[in-house]
Amino acid sequence: MQRGPHACGAAEANPTAARAIGAGIMWDFFKTVRHRHSIRRYQADMPVEAEKLHAILETAIAAPSAGDLQAYRITAVQDQTLRDALCRAAHDQTFIAEAPVALVFCAESERSARKYGDRGRNLYALQDATIAAAYAQLAVVAAGLGSTWVGFFDEEEVRRVLGLPGDQRPIALLCVGYPAELPEVTPRRRLDELVNYK
Ligand SMILES: Cc1cc2nc3c(=O)[nH]c(=O)nc-3n(C[C@H](O)[C@H](O)[C@H](O)COP(=O)(O)O)c2cc1C
Repeated sequence: MQRGPHACGAAEANPTAARAIGAGIMWDFFKTVRHRHSIRRYQADMPVEAEKLHAILETAIAAPSAGDLQAYRITAVQDQTLRDALCRAAHDQTFIAEAPVALVFCAESERSARKYGDRGRNLYALQDATIAAAYAQLAVVAAGLGSTWVGFFDEEEVRRVLGLPGDQRPIALLCVGYPAELPEVTPRRRLDELVNYK
């Protein structure tokens, strides 16, 4: 692990991650990004350690948010019956029941709408939840685990299964666990197709 000039600030903001860095179990950032691939088979009998889950959640909430309102909520689901129900709500994507943890990221739209109106309700709250999930997904890799982002689910069914209040809109489900497969490396469009320099 390389220690850059920002290591100190990161350690203050995220004490669990700092301990993980100290223990040599966190990776260099660019390596972490490169090694993130969707995992769709998990070792169901290998639970995610509480300390790692905590570090992942601390990293998620370090994400930026519009007006620093942090207009999202995360439900960490470990209960097998609930994960089975989430699997059904996500059109029987079986790895959801297999992964020992499902993190459900919800936009808290009215929290953002109180300050930013429709733009907060329809855009910022969704972005807040999405960025937090993206941070979590990278922390998962750094912690030596795997994940898949799941967006294909019945929102109302996820709401019902988890008993979410009406102002929480489920945006993304992140399955987390120890991989039981070598993931496929997926292609990316070329940089010059995706980026315009002006
Ligand atoms: C918004 C969004 C929704 C997604 N929904 C699903 C899903 O429902 N099921 C699934 O298996 N993967 C889902 N994925 C994962 C993508 O299929 C995956 O990220 C993409 O194929 C690239 O592969 P990689 O993650 O290994 O780089 C989703 C990803 C995103 C960002």
